[in-house]
Amino acid sequence: MKIGVFDSGVGGLTVLKALIRLYPQVDFAYLGDTARVPYGDKSAQTVIRYSLECADFLLGEGIELLVVACNTASSYALNVLKEHLSIPVFGVIEPGVRRALRTTQRGRIGVIGTRATVSSGVYKRLLEANGVEVFQKACPLFVPLVEEGILQGNIAKEVVRYYLSELKDRNIDTLILGCTHYPLLRPVIEEFMGRSVSVVDSAESLALEIGSYVENSGSSTLNLFFTDRSPGLDALIELILGKSVDYKLLTLSCKL
Ligand code: DGL
Repeated sequence: MKIGVFDSGVGGLTVLKALIRLYPQVDFAYLGDTARVPYGDKSAQTVIRYSLECADFLLGEGIELLVVACNTASSYALNVLKEHLSIPVFGVIEPGVRRALRTTQRGRIGVIGTRATVSSGVYKRLLEANGVEVFQKACPLFVPLVEEGILQGNIAKEVVRYYLSELKDRNIDTLILGCTHYPLLRPVIEEFMGRSVSVVDSAESLALEIGSYVENSGSSTLNLFFTDRSPGLDALIELILGKSVDYKLLTLSCKL
């Protein structure tokens, strides 16, 4: 079986890594739209169009299941993708929500993400429907921080403090990392929030949840595609996947 995974850039590699760990005998095609990242400050229409283009390319690669490894694209484009595609399509939001609901003790959940994800209100709606209190915060500097490889040290700590102080004051007990770049800042985030806050990353939950759809293919190819060789791309691939992997560059178009 071949699983397609796409993200606006490199962040979705954190999801790909969780999938490969759980399904080593499956073929993967990953597309990172590095030419157009970030999606997190684009309009809903643009995110939907970009997502359709990513899906269309991966369909051409012969995928049989699609994972939308981008919170922004999952917030705005998941339903449209499900309508257009005849293969199973999964996003990262619902698995993160379910895990947070299982984790919370006091029903006070924080959600951090891009401006687009936060203003879509998808996390808030799904969580509040289960009777918990939700406190959201967009953290627009986290993505460029990760893309610059600044994952620890004073700058990272200061930016985390700048955005998360408000949530800490709200006395939350669970924090959802609602953006695929944020797991790379997890150690700094956990240190700042303290032990009383459980940090939830949806990658592992998503990987577990798709289990009944996954079939071993007896092979384990990994094809990576990006739409631009942005500065730092090679270093980030190596940082996230733990090894350097060759990739192809392409330009997207769409027939969907
Ligand atoms: N991958 C995006 C997300 O998970 C973050 C980067 C972007 O803004 O495109 O929301």
